[in-house]
Amino acid sequence: MKIIKAIKTAFAATILLGTGSVLAAEGEVELKHQDWSFNGAFGTYDRAAMQRGFQVYKEVCAACHGLKYIAFRNLMEIGFSEAEAKAIAAEYTVPGAPDEFGDPTERAAGLSDYMPSPFANEQAAKASNNGAIPPDLSLVAKAREGGPDYLYSLLTGYEDPPEDFELGDGLNYNAVFPGHQIAMPQPLFDDFVTYANGPEASVDQMAKDVSHFLMWAAEPKLEARHQMGFKVMAFMLVLTILLYLINRKVWANVKKKH
Ligand code: HEC
Repeated sequence: MKIIKAIKTAFAATILLGTGSVLAAEGEVELKHQDWSFNGAFGTYDRAAMQRGFQVYKEVCAACHGLKYIAFRNLMEIGFSEAEAKAIAAEYTVPGAPDEFGDPTERAAGLSDYMPSPFANEQAAKASNNGAIPPDLSLVAKAREGGPDYLYSLLTGYEDPPEDFELGDGLNYNAVFPGHQIAMPQPLFDDFVTYANGPEASVDQMAKDVSHFLMWAAEPKLEARHQMGFKVMAFMLVLTILLYLINRKVWANVKKKH
C-alpha cells in the first residue's frame, strides 16, 4: 500500500512541476482580477465609472489611440445627455464636404460622426511611436485574453525591469505585456486628470475607469444580453410550472382508475 501511495505522490508532484514549467516557459502572468460591476449573469455597467473612463481616454489615451467604432451619439448610452454629447463632439474636427473649388474642408463633429483617429495613417502612427502602431481601442477589451482584467493589469503593470533584463531601445518594461517589453510608455500617473466629482484620480482608479469604459466600447450590448438571459430563465421557469400542472391534470383521472 505504502508503495502505491508513494507512486501516487510522485506522480502528482511530477504533474505539478510539469505544469509549473510549462507556465513559466510560456511566460504566463497572473492578471490582477477585479470585481467589475458587469461581471456575472446580472451584471450592469457603472455609468459614473464609464464617464470617468471616457475622460481618461479623451485626455490621455486619445493622443495615440483611436476609437473608430464609437460615434459621439453612443456617448448617450453611458449617461451623457444629448447636449453633453453634442458639446463633446463639437470639440473635434472632421473632414467636411469639399468647397466650391473642390478643396477639402473641415467642420466640427456632430452626434452621428465617429471618433476621429489621432494619426492620419499607419505610417504617421509608426513614425510617432518608435515604429509601433498604437492599436484602435474600440474592440481591444474583447481582443485580449483576460479582457478588462488584462487592460487594468497592463496599465498598472509598469515596473523597473529585473536586473538581468535587457530592455530594447525605446521600449518599456511591463509585467503583463507578452515578452515584457512594450512600445507604449507608461500612460498614467497620479492626478493626470481631474475628476469633476468623483474619487481621487490615482493610477489605480484611472486604470479601472478606462478599462470599464473600454469594456463597454467593445460590448455595448452586454446589459441587453444579461436582461434577455434573465427573461429567458423566467420564461422557462413559468413554462416548467405550467407543464407540471398540466401534466398532473391530464394524468389525474388515469392514475385514479389504477
Ligand atoms: C504616447 C502614445 C500612447 C499613449 C498616450 C497611450 N498608448 Fe497605448 N499604446 C501605444 C503604443 C505605441 C502601443 C503598441 C505597443 C506595442 O505593440 O509594443 C500601445 C498599445 C496599447 C494596448 C495594446 C496592448 C496589447 O496587448 O497589444 C492597449 C490596450 C493600450 N495601448 C491602451 C492604452 C490606454 C488605455 C491608454 C490611456 C490610458 C493608452 N494606451 C495611452 C501608445 C500609447
